[in-house]
Amino acid sequence: MNTAPSLQALPDNLINLADHEACARSRLDSNAWAYFYGGAADEFSLAANRQAWDALTLWPRVLRTLAGGHTRVHLLGRELACPLLVAPMAFQRMAHADGELAMAYASAALGAGMVFSTQASMPLEQVAQAVLGMQGRGPLWFQLYLQHDRGFTRQLVARAEAAGYEALVLTVDAPAHGARDRERRARFRLPEGIGAINLQGMAPPPSVPLEHGQSALFDGLLHQAPTWEDVQWLQSQTRLPVLLKGILHPADAVQAARLGVAGLIVSNHGGRTLDTAPATAIALRHVVHALRSAGMDVPVLVDGGIRRGTDVLKAMALGASAVLIGRPAIWGLANAGAAGVAHVLRLLRDELEIAMALSGCARLSDASPALLDPACA
Ligand code: FNR
Ligand code: LAC
Repeated sequence: MNTAPSLQALPDNLINLADHEACARSRLDSNAWAYFYGGAADEFSLAANRQAWDALTLWPRVLRTLAGGHTRVHLLGRELACPLLVAPMAFQRMAHADGELAMAYASAALGAGMVFSTQASMPLEQVAQAVLGMQGRGPLWFQLYLQHDRGFTRQLVARAEAAGYEALVLTVDAPAHGARDRERRARFRLPEGIGAINLQGMAPPPSVPLEHGQSALFDGLLHQAPTWEDVQWLQSQTRLPVLLKGILHPADAVQAARLGVAGLIVSNHGGRTLDTAPATAIALRHVVHALRSAGMDVPVLVDGGIRRGTDVLKAMALGASAVLIGRPAIWGLANAGAAGVAHVLRLLRDELEIAMALSGCARLSDASPALLDPACA
């Protein structure tokens, strides 16, 4: 069960993450592509994430001492080799038969973290067992979608704790599925044999018949949606640190910090939930500013459109403690299983080191707002 994933050769000429995307597009069928690539509605937020990183410029400093520099950071009481984690993404076996196992294995080998999705397509215990003993691995966190059955949710949390996951990431930006035009146009269906295996055995949501004029969303599904009270409930149910994923508004960031969450992930779900939500690079600046103004010191992570080492450095300069990588990790997985994911993470780490050296940052703590705006120096 816990053997390492298969070793697969990498396709030629993959020089950067965009190459991985183009290669994956040619390998995945249109059903899987629509799901993995797509955003919500007009995909404005999907595009805005990229544009916002591109719009930031780096103002390099020269002649600083760079020898002995490194990409290490501290996060939740641990030292990480680099500030990268693979974002939680559902149904990874749709990209490659080795699925989440390959994703976790490659992340651990590269010293990057991994956030395992509630909607993963492999058993959470199998993946944890395969990587927890690996030397130099990054953090292994469990992403939680609160289920309508709170008893089942509690059991799921207990399973994640027992399996050795080190933190819970409660996703709060998806009380409903986004309007996924691209998925609908492709008539997206999960392939036979792939599903949210860790949710098996849960009773279906209670079906309350709707009366005339009632909304399936507001009078149905949203009765199960998490609220601030549920955040406190979750904190009371677990000994693990709880982070919230999907924070954009600075007022929500402050509210979450007041509840004593262990960290925040600034995210718009890769543009897959509310279209026209702000780009995460822009939200990150507001969130960090609001927390500092309120005197609150809570780690802030960010994801969305991070495709280059320079993007990672910009995120750190804006005050992020680490970043999450979404789709590019799926492209690597589709292209060559664990070897493909490792290659994607290696490219990002190498690019980050080059960006640091050329910006005059021997350490990531040297990346401050002055790196993005000389007026801040
Ligand atoms: C996601 N995302 C996501 N988030 C989450 O909390 N739980 C999940 O199960 C999933 N599933 C998922 C599937 C796929 C195919 C994608 C692309 C994304 C969102 C993900 O964690 C992350 O926020 C974004 O993917 C980051 O943006 P980029 O790097 O993909 O641009
Ligand atoms: C998605 C869900 C699983 O983005 O979070 O597809």
